[in-house]
Amino acid sequence: MKRICIIGISGKLGQYMAEHALARGYEVTGVCRPESVAKLARFGDRIRLFPGRTNDRAVIAEAVKGCDGVLTVLVPWGVEGYATGTAQAVLDLAEPGARLVFSCGWHISRDGKDRYTWRLRALVAVFGLVARWLRFADLDDQVEATRRIFASERDWTVVRGSDLEEGPGEGLPVWARHVGAPELASNRTRRSDFALFMVHALTDPALSREAPAIVGRNTTSARAHATPAAANTGALPPQDA
Ligand SMILES: NC(=O)c1ccc[n+]([C@@H]2O[C@H](COP(=O)([O-])OP(=O)(O)OC[C@H]3O[C@@H](n4cnc5c(N)ncnc54)[C@H](OP(=O)(O)O)[C@@H]3O)[C@@H](O)[C@H]2O)c1
Repeated sequence: MKRICIIGISGKLGQYMAEHALARGYEVTGVCRPESVAKLARFGDRIRLFPGRTNDRAVIAEAVKGCDGVLTVLVPWGVEGYATGTAQAVLDLAEPGARLVFSCGWHISRDGKDRYTWRLRALVAVFGLVARWLRFADLDDQVEATRRIFASERDWTVVRGSDLEEGPGEGLPVWARHVGAPELASNRTRRSDFALFMVHALTDPALSREAPAIVGRNTTSARAHATPAAANTGALPPQDA
């Protein structure tokens, strides 16, 4: 892995990913909305920016040129299919063979085998209804975006984040194949560690064509179910495959 592109680099997750990628010595390019370019001033010329909306295919085509890896922040904002347009542009325009890593939340299910708490189900239902009614977000857009990724022949990973919190990184989160696995019960990950997992996924073949659900490695549930292997790699063997 030499050069990577971060689609949605100006958000909180995007900026953490830029830091981790630079720390690994990668050349970093990124796409963000023109009005957000100033948020990245502290990176100076350490990153190369392509201002534009992340579903603008012409911008994506330029930004991903020559990149071996693409990290994409999928967000449900707006009601014009922004997430779907973003995912489709990356799937269509990234270099052949590039590793493609996408972010979303636990509410996305690849195979319907996730087991959600009533609280999460209620939150998603209420947020989804209110968001669509007020026209500021469309959760179904993220669902459609990931459906297309899961169906694609690309070398993808869809990282599903738990509830997030700020704070110093604790190391690589642990993961399971399905929400409902006991190690995930704490439902809490530091945003910086979510970003670390995204960057890690670029070079971990075990995550190819997986949709890992992640949780902070220092959470009660992760510690209770940790194995010696997990202590080394951050990954728990999926117990519910
Ligand atoms: N927040 C959580 O608790 C949570 C939990 C689980 C998973 N996740 C996942 O984590 C990822 C990052 O989420 P985050 O909450 O931490 O946010 P974030 O990293 O701050 O990213 C928000 C992104 O949305 C963009 N954005 C904001 N308003 C927009 C609009 N109206 N139209 C188009 N783009 C807009 C931002 O771009 P600008 O910089 O240009 O504003 C930024 O790229 C997402 O994939 C999310 O599904 C989040």
